Amino acid sequence: MSATCTSEITSILEKAIEGAELDRDEIVRLLSARDGEEKEALYKAADEVRKACVGDEIYLRGIIEFSAYCRRNCHYCGLRAQNRDIHRYRIPDEEILSRAKLLKERSCTTVVLQSGEDAYYNTERLCRIIRRIKDETALAITLSIGERSYGEYEAFREAGAERYLLRHETASRELYRSLHPGHELEDRIACLRMLKRLGYEVGSGCIVGLPGQSIADLADDVLLLKGLDIDMIGVGPFIPHPGTPLGSHPAGGTGPVLNMLAVLRLVTKDTNIPATTALGVLDPEARRRAFAAGANVFMPNFTPDPYTAYYEIYPGKGPEAGAIAKASDSGYAVLFEGMGRRIGTGYGYRTRKACTPETQSCPGGPQ
Ligand code: 5AD
Ligand code: SF4
Repeated sequence: MSATCTSEITSILEKAIEGAELDRDEIVRLLSARDGEEKEALYKAADEVRKACVGDEIYLRGIIEFSAYCRRNCHYCGLRAQNRDIHRYRIPDEEILSRAKLLKERSCTTVVLQSGEDAYYNTERLCRIIRRIKDETALAITLSIGERSYGEYEAFREAGAERYLLRHETASRELYRSLHPGHELEDRIACLRMLKRLGYEVGSGCIVGLPGQSIADLADDVLLLKGLDIDMIGVGPFIPHPGTPLGSHPAGGTGPVLNMLAVLRLVTKDTNIPATTALGVLDPEARRRAFAAGANVFMPNFTPDPYTAYYEIYPGKGPEAGAIAKASDSGYAVLFEGMGRRIGTGYGYRTRKACTPETQSCPGGPQ
């Protein structure tokens, strides 16, 4: 029985490595890989594809959580507007800029400006910050500030932002609706399409282990990300926050997240995939394992004290993230020690080169 199941996994993995498209059932089968031989085979295949398609570099993208105000009420998130028990803040522009300079000194080639959906940051205010960071650091700029209009996305792009992160959170329409009252998955997807049209490198992704989420839903997440030709894919476990309607539900496991990362690498090949903070919060060792199962990006947190502890999307991220931000360049290297990986020095844009493990390289290699 077990041998048959493992050979089934092996033949799906071979198919994926050869570049054939996987159908929903095959993706479900891979996502269900069990401890032992099945997971080993899945992670090994994902690691080979990672090596061939994006190389051995790990790109560092430094995050600055610049505003903890949010007008939305996502059922899982501690920053939801109705949570009155957290301290809201906005980091002054000068401090954002000095943190951007610091993260550049610490080997990050990209700054990720992240916030809740905060209307205070209108086009004028945000474009001013983007232009200053661009002029004074030449860092690549990624925005992660939620749903905005086409005109706003266009203005940010013209000001110098080249990447945008907007997770779709879940590809299940029903689950999306129940977690985001008054919002539709279609609106999220429409934003992702606008961002693609404007020439952003677009990041999206989902939460794994949400109450009511099935493995088939996760397969739909994979297919949606592939179908939208998403360039960067962030996936992390659900972590319950006591100040939210989902506070008493169990956390998602790290195993399902690792399976998801590996399948995403196999299916999307040359995308940039971080080992996310949420994974490290549940288990720092799991984040290391993510780099051996397809991940190629690390996003250290550069939000200054005291703000970082206030940006409570989920509990437990503050101190750990802060400690990593304080690490020196060699500190990061320690995280990747013994993995045969090195810190990427370029901007780490998606290369879009055809690649298979057989050819063992993407012509030109990642930048
Ligand atoms: N558990 C895991 N991930 C969460 N996010 C928000 N709240 C939680 C939580 N409780 C994720 C969402 C969001 C990103 C910034 O953080 O996917 O897009
Ligand atoms: Fe706001 Fe984002 Fe949290 Fe939703 S997930 S409440 S949009 S910060």
